[in-house]
Amino acid sequence: MKVTVVGSGNVGATVANVLAVKNFLDEVVLIDIKEGLSEGKAMDIMQTSHMLNFDTTVTGATSPMDKPDYSATANSDVVVITSGIPRKPGMSREDLIGVNSKIVGGVVDEALKHSPNAIFIIISNPMDAMTYLTIKNSKLPRNRVIGQGGMLDSSRFRYFLAQALTKAGYPATPTDIDGMVIGGHSDKTMVPLASLATWRGIPVKELLSEEALKDAVEQTKVGGATLTKLLGTSAWYAPGAAAAALVEAIALDAKKLIPCCVYLDGEYGEKDLCIGVPVVLGKGGMEKIVDLKLDGDEKAKFAESVAAARNTNANLGDALKG
Ligand code: LAC
Repeated sequence: MKVTVVGSGNVGATVANVLAVKNFLDEVVLIDIKEGLSEGKAMDIMQTSHMLNFDTTVTGATSPMDKPDYSATANSDVVVITSGIPRKPGMSREDLIGVNSKIVGGVVDEALKHSPNAIFIIISNPMDAMTYLTIKNSKLPRNRVIGQGGMLDSSRFRYFLAQALTKAGYPATPTDIDGMVIGGHSDKTMVPLASLATWRGIPVKELLSEEALKDAVEQTKVGGATLTKLLGTSAWYAPGAAAAALVEAIALDAKKLIPCCVYLDGEYGEKDLCIGVPVVLGKGGMEKIVDLKLDGDEKAKFAESVAAARNTNANLGDALKG
């Protein structure tokens, strides 16, 4: 199995690093427009292989902006797109749409030329709109274009719920929590499903005050912005690990239920839109959408998220080939 990671910035390099350490792939290729960056990051990762005990080969390639060359990525099974600019403190993910839609549109075309059968995982922000752009322009079947947001947001939700439970006298760890975030990967409109979250099977709403639960939900929603403020740029360890988890579910045909951004065609009552919903991932990419019956409040919040995602897509402009 071969995986290409487009973009060797913090997120792309973390995806490659986590994939290498997990040791289930034959090859990971990092590619970037910046000369030498991918080669350097790949070499640095490879020099940990003896210490971390993995046999996956990580290589790097430069693809100059004026003369793209994706030959090193040929015949990849999965292509992860991280290209584009990250947000700075005070920016929303949606503010990046103008610049990133041009970058993402171009790199998907190049990658597809060399890996016509690949499954694409989109991370670049605004991720829901970039996933929509990719599926519309590439005309790939919807099972092969998957946006990563829900895995990351759900992982942050588990972290904040574990903290809240511990504070309330229940010593929980994120691995003991089950919880899911659906909707858009957006500060204002993502939908943490608080009513379904559990601590080892116990609904957390039975253990946390309404206020503590609401606080965990709100912290989850602005989780990315909080880190952007602390770091001066957007986060990379959890976003990178989240993308690697999607690659793993696909490469190992694991049939894992993970919230991902996919193209809806009637599910959740929506059409012609990419947004986060629970899906089963396996070797076919997105193999099934689980159409949840949401409760009244969560249904209203999901509808708001849908409206916001449609609004963002309306700004894709001529990046959409039509
Ligand atoms: C975040 C960015 C990567 O949520 O979207 O951290």
